[in-house]
Order: sequence, then C-alpha cells, then structure tokens
Amino acid sequence: MEAIILSGGFGTRLRPLTYTRAKSLLPILNKPMIVHLIETFPEEVNKIILAVNYRKDQIENYFKENDFGKEIIVNNEPKPLGTGGATKFAEKHITDRFLVLNSDIICSLNLKDMIKFHTKNNSMATISLWPVENVSEFGVADVKENGNIVGFVEKPKPEDAPSEFINAGAYCLEPDVLDYIDTDRLVSMEKEIFPQIIEDTKRFFGFKFKGYWMDIGRISSYIEIQRFLLRKNKIEKCQGKDCKIYGSMKETCIGNNVTIGKSSKLNSVVVYNNATIGENVNLSYCVVGDNCKIADFSDIRNSVVGDNEELLEKTVLDNKAIWTQPIPKSYPDKQIGNVIEK
Ligand code: GDD
Ligand code: MG
Repeated sequence: MEAIILSGGFGTRLRPLTYTRAKSLLPILNKPMIVHLIETFPEEVNKIILAVNYRKDQIENYFKENDFGKEIIVNNEPKPLGTGGATKFAEKHITDRFLVLNSDIICSLNLKDMIKFHTKNNSMATISLWPVENVSEFGVADVKENGNIVGFVEKPKPEDAPSEFINAGAYCLEPDVLDYIDTDRLVSMEKEIFPQIIEDTKRFFGFKFKGYWMDIGRISSYIEIQRFLLRKNKIEKCQGKDCKIYGSMKETCIGNNVTIGKSSKLNSVVVYNNATIGENVNLSYCVVGDNCKIADFSDIRNSVVGDNEELLEKTVLDNKAIWTQPIPKSYPDKQIGNVIEK
C-alpha cells in the first residue's frame, strides 16, 4: 500500500525555525516530526511518497541517510500545488487504495483500524476525525452517527461550524479520488475536493479515535507536544550526545553538544544542537535554534530564538521571535496553501 506524506508548505507559523529547515524535519524529542508519523504506519504500507517542495534537499538527504525498511520516493513539486495538487502530482506512484497524511500531526490514530473502517463502509474517502473546541483553525465535518460525512467546511467561522469534529489529517482514499483533482494547479483537498466527493458520491466517512492528537502548527504546540510526550513516556528530560549540564532541566529536550551553565534553569524548553547557555539563565517555554549562545543572567520566556543567534548578558525577552539575519530568498512573505491569511 502507498502512503503520501504531505511535507511541503513553508511552515510560516513556525518561523524562524522554518527559515532554515523543512517543517517535517523539525525535531520532536530529537527525532524529526515525520519519523514519529512513519512509525505509526502499519506493515502493509510498503511505499512512502514524500510530497515536497520547500527545502526538498534536506528531506531527500535525511532519507538517504536513514533507512525505514520501506521504499521512499521523494516527489518534488516544481511549485507548491496545495494539498490536493500535491496528491494528484503523486498519481503516477499510486496503484490501488492509498493513504494521505499531513506531516505536522502527532497522534494515537491506529491507521490499520481506519483502513478496516474504510473497507467496511465501501467508502471512497475516509478521513480521521478528532473533537476540538476551537474548530475555526481546522476543517470541520458534518458527520452522522454511523460515520457518514454529509458536509465539510475548511476553517469555518465558529457559527458556521457543523460539528466539533475536525479533519485530523489522515485520509484513506480510493484511486478514483484522483480523477477529481486537476493537474498542475494549486488545489486544496479540503476546500475543493472533499465537498465535491460528498456531493457526488455520498461515500465519504469519518473515523473517530481515542487517545491524543496534536497539530504542530505553531511554536506553542511545538513545545507542548514535547512536554506531552515526555510526560507520557514518564521522563523528565531528553538529551542528545556530548552535553555538559551544570544547571537544571524540567520537561525539556536538548540536542547534541549543548552546554548549560551553573544555576541556569530550563523549564519546558527545546534546545537544538551546539547551543551554549550561560550561567544563571532562566529559560521557560522557549525554543533555541542550532549554534545559539545565550549569555549569563538572561531571562527568556515564551520565545523562539532562531539558529546562530547570540544573546548578550542580561537579555530579557517575553513572547518574542529572534531572527537578526536576512530572511532566506526562497521564503514567501505571504502564506500559501491552507493556512489562515493574517
Ligand atoms: N507537498 C505539499 N505541497 N504539501 C503541502 C502544501 C503544498 O503546496 N501545502 C501544505 N502542505 C502540507 C503541510 O506541510 C501539512 O503537512 C499539510 O499539507 C496540511 O497543510 P497545513 O498548511 O499544515 O494546513 P492546516 O494545518 O492549516 O490545515 C490542515 O490540517 C488540519 C489539521 O491539522 C487541513 O487539512 C485541515 O482540514 C485540518 O483540520
Ligand atoms: Mg497544519
């Protein structure tokens, strides 16, 4: 069975981390986000098609160096085609019923159970569903008791939302779905294709599941998922190789070759590789990029510090994103694709 992972898009809400890396390679407990997803695939998935565009070389290189026992195809779109367009662009690799997955979700969905549900219902398209309170940031399904979805609206106003069940970002699709998608243009699966299939076929179903679900769309959820997984695995902290720790860490994850000075306290922090944190530094709910230096007596909260930044002694920051270098030319100044325009 083939699985398409939608790993394009710029991850603009995760700036400045995504100025220098593909969103799906952002580490979660020191392992790329996309690997957490691949680890949930049932054995019957033997071919993975990575639908990529921005920073495709990074993704390609990562999969050249790391083997997951499945065939990996890097399918590079010449330009971002949207969630539907990227799926259509992978058509030549699809031989039968297939999966499509958003790459920025960490959850407890059992894909095998979802495929069984799809088969039992003779469905054309089955999507995973998760209940949330703030439906407006998501795609929302009008779903009947038996799982039949009779309406779908992407990012509705709260008053227009048909239910509390949102598209949780995993689809099981019959190949016929591909006939609904135009070639070579930006197509949103959620805005154009899902409503059309519902109208034409009535064979559109939603699979609800229990456990946990998190969309890693923003810095806050990026920090939150690591805290959640640490707690779930009953560990206080996670650290890479060659670290020198003289301070303390709580619900924190650090990469390789990180130094944390005396009397420094890190609470709910993600630190990438080769960072140096001085003495008497307080970091709380932060992400610190590769090769950063944060000097003594700094106090940084609810902030993200991009790669290679140096913060001077006694820096105080709250709710800031630090990036002092030029923004890479390949990066858009406007959001593209599914995200809410600001
Ligand atoms: N290849 C490719 N090309 N991938 C893309 C493109 C593109 O042009 N645009 C977006 N993607 C990928 C993203 O990397 C992500 O994995 C997935 O498609 C969904 O795009 P997002 O930009 O993250 O969309 P969203 O979070 O606003 O909304 C989507 O996810 C929600 C659940 O988190 C929608 O599918 C909603 O309906 C859903 O509720
Ligand atoms: Mg998303």
